[in-house]
Amino acid sequence: MTDRRIPLVIDTDPGVDDTLAILLINAHRDKYDIRAINPVHGNVHYGDTSTNAVRLAEYLNIDCRIGKGAVKPVIRAARTAGTVHGSGGLGGYDLPETDRQFDEKYAWDVLYEEAVKAGGELELVTLGPVTNVAIAFLAHPDLKNYIKKIYSMAGTAGKGNTNAFAEFNVYVDPEAFQILVSSGVPVYMCGLDGNASCGLSSEEILSLFHEESRVTDLTGTIASFIEDRNVRKWGMKINTIHDHVTMACYIYPEIAEFRPMHCSVELAEADAEGQTKVCEPDEDHPANIWYLVKADKQRYMEITREMMEFYKLG
Ligand code: BDR
Ligand code: CA
Repeated sequence: MTDRRIPLVIDTDPGVDDTLAILLINAHRDKYDIRAINPVHGNVHYGDTSTNAVRLAEYLNIDCRIGKGAVKPVIRAARTAGTVHGSGGLGGYDLPETDRQFDEKYAWDVLYEEAVKAGGELELVTLGPVTNVAIAFLAHPDLKNYIKKIYSMAGTAGKGNTNAFAEFNVYVDPEAFQILVSSGVPVYMCGLDGNASCGLSSEEILSLFHEESRVTDLTGTIASFIEDRNVRKWGMKINTIHDHVTMACYIYPEIAEFRPMHCSVELAEADAEGQTKVCEPDEDHPANIWYLVKADKQRYMEITREMMEFYKLG
């Protein structure tokens, strides 16, 4: 029987919110054929993001390739956000160990091979710095012809979360993100400000992810970690789970409002290093991305409840 599911590669730096995003897409296995989960340096060092990726794939029984990813950005030194994601990157949670092996190929070749194999139908979701993807575009100039669309948790048109202007994933590897937006593939960019429309109160995040299921140990630990960090340590009132919101917008584009915009990345200016300069397109600045303006929070919460429901059954 022909597999009519959408072929998908996920590029990720798990990471607490990456983990919730992968739990979400895995709950839609009937629609998506996850061909690869490619780890990259980012939230924590590559040793931890790659271990988390392979353990998570095994824990969720996802039969896919795990390419060997980049340990640092294309040009710059690695920068992590360990305190943002806790020890090991999963808010202190230890996924069961596994002897599952990484693919013998690098992530950029895995992406290319899967894209060619899917004959132009492959979709890509990026949840971390896009080093692997940038290398893939550089190593395989025809890759752009084989990727249908990219959803990327990246950037901001408002305030940053690293310096005043930059979002973490772009800040860590700005050259790589510039390559991605210049690739010619349709890019749906879910930035900090658009994702924030699905920000959750403490009560909401804790009740949603502590709902009883076979993954509640993991989701509950992560939700409590995020809430404690945001509210008690950082004095915020709202918890936006960026990678999870991005994945929800990818799976359910009808909940999201995107606008065609022009985006370029600030590569130099120290105070604004990594800023995504998002503006209305004009003759000199043609639209090169779809920018997330907002998403429907009520639907996002329902989608999250359905995700937990999936893990009650399966
Ligand atoms: C992004 O940076 C990481 O800390 C998160 O996993 C998310 O991908 C938010 O800026
Ligand atoms: Ca991430």
